[in-house]
Amino acid sequence: MFPTARPPGFAVASPSPLMTSSAGPASRQVSPRRYLMCPPEHFDVTYAINPWMDPDRPVDRGLVLDQWQQLVTTYRQLGHEVAVLPPAPGLPDMVFAANGGLVVDGRAMGARFRHHERAAEAEHYLAWFRRYLDPAAVAPVHVLEAEGDVLQVGEVLLAGYGFRTDRAAHVEVAAWSGREVVSLELVDPRYYHLDTCLGVLDEQTLAWLPSAFAPEAQAELRRRYPDAIEVDADEAALLAINLVSDGRHVIVPPGATRFRAALEAADFVPIAVDLSELRKAGGGAKCATLELRSAA
Ligand code: ARG
Repeated sequence: MFPTARPPGFAVASPSPLMTSSAGPASRQVSPRRYLMCPPEHFDVTYAINPWMDPDRPVDRGLVLDQWQQLVTTYRQLGHEVAVLPPAPGLPDMVFAANGGLVVDGRAMGARFRHHERAAEAEHYLAWFRRYLDPAAVAPVHVLEAEGDVLQVGEVLLAGYGFRTDRAAHVEVAAWSGREVVSLELVDPRYYHLDTCLGVLDEQTLAWLPSAFAPEAQAELRRRYPDAIEVDADEAALLAINLVSDGRHVIVPPGATRFRAALEAADFVPIAVDLSELRKAGGGAKCATLELRSAA
């Protein structure tokens, strides 16, 4: 599956207690995933490029590392593989791996960041892709904050614009991937990346915050996904929609109780992981997790 050297951090999956604990005959199927993550060793809030970030509010470096490790452990217990990209000093947002690239059908496209503060992250992610995943990985011409703004749902790629990613990058991604790209305009600055207001639960099911989208985008999503779960504004504000799902288990913040109940009612299994420190930079589980999607 990996054309070049096997990446550090990948190991043969150990027996997974979380995966086998409650599976019933009618329950949703897990599909094993591969993720790329970057430890928050240099995590900090030293600049403000979204409304969540306040450089005057201190971060707890020990706590953020523990919380991140808990997320990694949870994935591995679920039977998923996690590769780890070494963090670089001076790049406090590098933990947000979803912004580092986009992997579709086993091919990788790097990122181009809107803000100069994050620009240098792109080369680290691109080098990793070229070495471990796709020697032909390309860098985008237009601003593309990668999986933060481009989410695969079944065959289709949903793509956000309005705050970070350029709409022209959507065209670039469509040409590169050969997939349909659906452009969705974001309108609420607190939900500046698509993955903060739209979460992919499985190949046809979403969770979302409708008010974060322009009217045309809302109409498009309602037409395509009539069964999407709407998340309340106060739980969206916990970054609850910034979820990671394997088709059955869904990583959510501990406080999102109504959303958890809605997931259970839809036969998903919510798993609470507290990422309160990452939230100080405007990120949650999905932001910290880049999915390495293989060719079908
Ligand atoms: N501080 C980071 C930024 O504003 C957070 C990125 C969150 N990532 C995401 N995929 N939503 O760029």
